[in-house]
Amino acid sequence: MKAPLKIGSLSFRNRVLTASGTFGMGKEFSDFLDYSQLGGITLKTITKNPRQGNPPPRILETPYGLLNSIGLENEGFQKVYQDLKKNDYLRQYDTNVIFSLAGDSVEDYVEMARFFCEIEGIAMLELNLSCPNVHEGGATFDSNPENVKRIVEETAKTVSKPFTVKFSPSQDFVKNSRIAEYSGAHAITISNTFLGMAIHAKTKTFVFKNKTAGYSGPAVKPMALANVYRAAQAVKIPVIASGGISSAEDASEFLIAGASFISIGTLNFVDPGLAGKIAKEIE
Ligand code: SIN
Repeated sequence: MKAPLKIGSLSFRNRVLTASGTFGMGKEFSDFLDYSQLGGITLKTITKNPRQGNPPPRILETPYGLLNSIGLENEGFQKVYQDLKKNDYLRQYDTNVIFSLAGDSVEDYVEMARFFCEIEGIAMLELNLSCPNVHEGGATFDSNPENVKRIVEETAKTVSKPFTVKFSPSQDFVKNSRIAEYSGAHAITISNTFLGMAIHAKTKTFVFKNKTAGYSGPAVKPMALANVYRAAQAVKIPVIASGGISSAEDASEFLIAGASFISIGTLNFVDPGLAGKIAKEIE
């Protein structure tokens, strides 16, 4: 039986979304892609305070993937919120806009979620508990299940719009998915990037300041597929799959593995129109 085209009370045109961190704030891709072809777009994660991000280098291509250590560069929630209050450009997009948030505490998540719920052009939220590029060594917020429980419970009590919780594949995402479900999340996103590393052998130095980085792209697809399958077996809420999807065939594999929605991430950088092509082909 086909999964409904819904997350909470929100209806989707189709199952194809874009992944946060690969799609800017929506404006950057609007010349390349007709958003009305998509189920939704997910914007770059916003944090409570402005973040300059990590020093360069921030990305490194590998034969079949991409390492990134951006470090959540963004202008901070107050600035982004005020700008959207003045000009809610997101309303003009004929698709569901998913707004991604990351905090340093439970309170950060809840406060930002409450504010951004007021913005009409935002249809849904993503709570990003899994950026590996903020702390050296890749520690993520979802390494502590108690964090997951509290953030999801408090957000569910506070916000009126549906939300998904984005997990790290390096943590116990099956347990975290169950916790998110019983604490009130409307969906889970499996997953953020895998933990990777690059070293200059000649100079015996790490490529990235934080040593580790997030790894994505076609190389991770088989691992992501297994993770999505495991998460989808564990919960009844929709699973949004993310992990190296580069074709309609890849997308179909994730849907067969149990995902209700799929998101295109790293491959947006190769072909900014790819999500639209995949949506068309999947139909
Ligand atoms: C980053 O900004 O470092 C990547 C975002 C993420 O992985 O959540």
